[in-house]
Amino acid sequence: MPGCGGSSPARSAWVAKTEQDVRRAAAQIVDDLLATGPCDFVAQVAARLPLTIICDMMGIPRDQYEMVLANTNVILSGMDPEFMGEDMNEAAVKLLGAGQALAELVTGLAAARSQAPADDLVSALVTANIDGEQLTGAELASFFILLVVAGNETTRTALSHALMLLTEFPQQRALLLADLEGRIEGAAEEIVRHASPVLFMRRTLTTEYTMNGQDYREGDKVALFYYSANRDEALFADPERFDITRSPNPHLGFGAAGPHFCLGAHLARRELIVMLRELLTRVPRITAGQPDRLLSSFVNGIKRLPCELR
Ligand code: HEM
Repeated sequence: MPGCGGSSPARSAWVAKTEQDVRRAAAQIVDDLLATGPCDFVAQVAARLPLTIICDMMGIPRDQYEMVLANTNVILSGMDPEFMGEDMNEAAVKLLGAGQALAELVTGLAAARSQAPADDLVSALVTANIDGEQLTGAELASFFILLVVAGNETTRTALSHALMLLTEFPQQRALLLADLEGRIEGAAEEIVRHASPVLFMRRTLTTEYTMNGQDYREGDKVALFYYSANRDEALFADPERFDITRSPNPHLGFGAAGPHFCLGAHLARRELIVMLRELLTRVPRITAGQPDRLLSSFVNGIKRLPCELR
């Protein structure tokens, strides 16, 4: 992907192309939704946009999209028996198999792109050479898996919650429809706060630290509960209320500022905003039925969500 690490004009061109790709994909998804009618919103809408965008960016061929989705589903399925079965050994085998399948996909793509680079992220990664250093095959595979998993499941979860929230809070939908362009960015932030698609992350302390009177030592393992931070009454008045006009909205849905802040936050925001704009312009009265939730403490996932177009 020339432009990714290149000069500013090249980077701007790449950002503009991504925006166009997201818009085109969102328009196609809504065309298909209107042709299909009432359906499972997760499969038909929420899963499709991030899957198409991240696979396209990576250079994954279209006939592999379903395989990528099936394997990222397994990797982030928590302990949901629908994906993992009831048996722990069986679950471990499934998890390893999903990682292996994605690693094989990137190994094949990397071999092809190192011979004939294309305009995609895998080409950029295999040809990158910084002070004589290149990514090893294992590093490439783990970064690829991180990106496709993180790029897929989280934005799908945010989009599914978006429809649930707009259904549960009709006055907020009316407010948004009354000034779509003026309020859509605030709505996207509030959706990420309220949904907290990633519920927590586990980190290891690199140094001693004292917080709220509690001493932590180097090497301690800690969990950062974003869902809880996003409902902090000291920061968010009536935190359970979905309020697209909340300002400021210092949520931690993408993590805290620092080296681990979500790498895909800008892309996720674009995807959310473009999809919501497309949906609410063309199917403004779409509503959600009862969600079928993922059994996971890590991702606030929705497996299926019936929708009515009205
Ligand atoms: C609504 C959608 C998304 C949400 C809610 C979300 C949330 C998060 C959170 C909470 C973290 C951990 C931050 C921390 O530890 O402080 C994270 C990290 C990350 N996210 Fe996202 N994410 C989203 C979309 C994406 C997308 C679309 C991509 C890729 C294209 C992506 C790639 C990553 C990566 C690579 C990391 C690891 C960063 C690191 O540790 O250096 N995310 N995300």
